[in-house]
Amino acid sequence: MRKPPLIAANWKMYKTPAQAEGYVKTFLPLVAGHDRDEIVLCPSDTSICAIVPTVAGSNVAIGGQNMHFAEEGAYTGETSALMLKAIGATHVIIGHSERRQYFNETDESVNKKLATALKHQLIPIVCIGEVLAEREDGHTDEVLRKQISLALVGVTPEDAENIVVAYEPVWAIGTGKTATPEIAATAHLLIRSEIARRLGRHVADTVRILYGGSVKPDNATALLNQPEIDGALVGGASLDPQSFAKIVKY
Ligand code: G3P
Repeated sequence: MRKPPLIAANWKMYKTPAQAEGYVKTFLPLVAGHDRDEIVLCPSDTSICAIVPTVAGSNVAIGGQNMHFAEEGAYTGETSALMLKAIGATHVIIGHSERRQYFNETDESVNKKLATALKHQLIPIVCIGEVLAEREDGHTDEVLRKQISLALVGVTPEDAENIVVAYEPVWAIGTGKTATPEIAATAHLLIRSEIARRLGRHVADTVRILYGGSVKPDNATALLNQPEIDGALVGGASLDPQSFAKIVKY
């Protein structure tokens, strides 16, 4: 049984703790009583402590944007799963394309982070997606199959049911070039077929696959009404509480 749709905000490197708290105070009343979708805000780590108390008891959860695969250690500047859990995060984004592009994230490091997130009962949102050149050269299917299969190495069917996957075509991130609902749905079907091949049909039908890449209030309904799309991972449009609330209530 698939869980409810998940609509997550990836704020990236924006908002101080005070700005994050102000956002949440505006946002919560806008989505009060909305229980159709799971709602997650993913601020920078520096803001998590500021907003976890504010969302306590609400229908909004908090996630991190990244984590290290180690339990602890000499990894300057990094944050562990245990640290995220300790400050009230319940979800964590793993493998975002910007981490792959700027911080040497690989399919292998994504897999290691995923294993640690599952071990510590954080709900991982695992990002995969092709770049424009890969799509234009007809390699999208191959890229997505490789990314999802390497992410899932060693993951049991039981653990996999807690995983959320985010399909984020890199050419749609921050560009305003949203994938059409049909392009997104086709990619989701392919990802789900690869999950079924590796972990069985039940897991494939249970895992939620989100779409990310220029989701806006004016395109959210068409995207999120696609049966193959189980929610959204929203960047720019999530930075404004009114805008993100409209997407949540698509
Ligand atoms: O993780 C979501 C993000 O990459 C999408 O960004 O600004 O295209 O919604 P944006």
